[in-house]
Amino acid sequence: MEIDVQLLPLRPDPASLSSRSVVVLDVLRATSVIVYGLSQGAKEFVPVLSVEEALKRKGQYPAGSTLLGGEKNAQQIEGFDLGNSPAEYIAEKIKGKRIILRTTNGTQAFHLISLAREAMAGSFFNVEAVARRCIVLGLDLLVFPSGDEGRFSMEDTVCAGMIIDRILQIMESTTTGGNGVSLTDASHAARFLFKRFENDREEAFRLSHHGKRLIRLGRGGDLSCCARTDIVSIVPAFREGVIRAL
Ligand code: MLT
Repeated sequence: MEIDVQLLPLRPDPASLSSRSVVVLDVLRATSVIVYGLSQGAKEFVPVLSVEEALKRKGQYPAGSTLLGGEKNAQQIEGFDLGNSPAEYIAEKIKGKRIILRTTNGTQAFHLISLAREAMAGSFFNVEAVARRCIVLGLDLLVFPSGDEGRFSMEDTVCAGMIIDRILQIMESTTTGGNGVSLTDASHAARFLFKRFENDREEAFRLSHHGKRLIRLGRGGDLSCCARTDIVSIVPAFREGVIRAL
């Protein structure tokens, strides 16, 4: 298994996607919302590219079945039911509901990798579950940080490094001893970055461009929330435009 990390959120070569699994990461905050929301009983998430598309899609589903969530400029969108803080996505509000989600980077990323053989949503919340799923799949893996409006995002890359580190740990404890895994330069770099923040993942958030912005907007609580690790064991899979727990 070769593990690569897409350090910038550019559309990968479609031919290379068809044989690989992909883990999409937007730990602050879209994929954290998706993982947490599904663990709280949301039926599914539909990631969309624009506010207009979200409104149009909602009209196509039966009344009462669907909520609109997400952000624009990191703020809840006017007329939407939910913002983009995982803490809002609790069972009392979302159990059994379909959530159409529009965010700046995270929901766009799913569309960039939609040709992947198997696509998943990762976050610090489900590192162990995602690592184990990647091993079971046994495919070459691309970890895909959603970035920050086209730029490198440190917090997503730290999480990528943690997933890679966990895959290696699990593989090393098996009979193969991790022999079948190779890392690209980008994967080594992500793992080294994770090691720097291993004991304080929230520090990576506080130093990051988007983390600082969330603190300025009074959303600092989302940093400590999204830094919680291995709190759920679900793996959301993105298939035919919809994300559901496996
Ligand atoms: C995104 O998708 O860009 C983020 O989730 C933005 C945010 O934190 O609201």
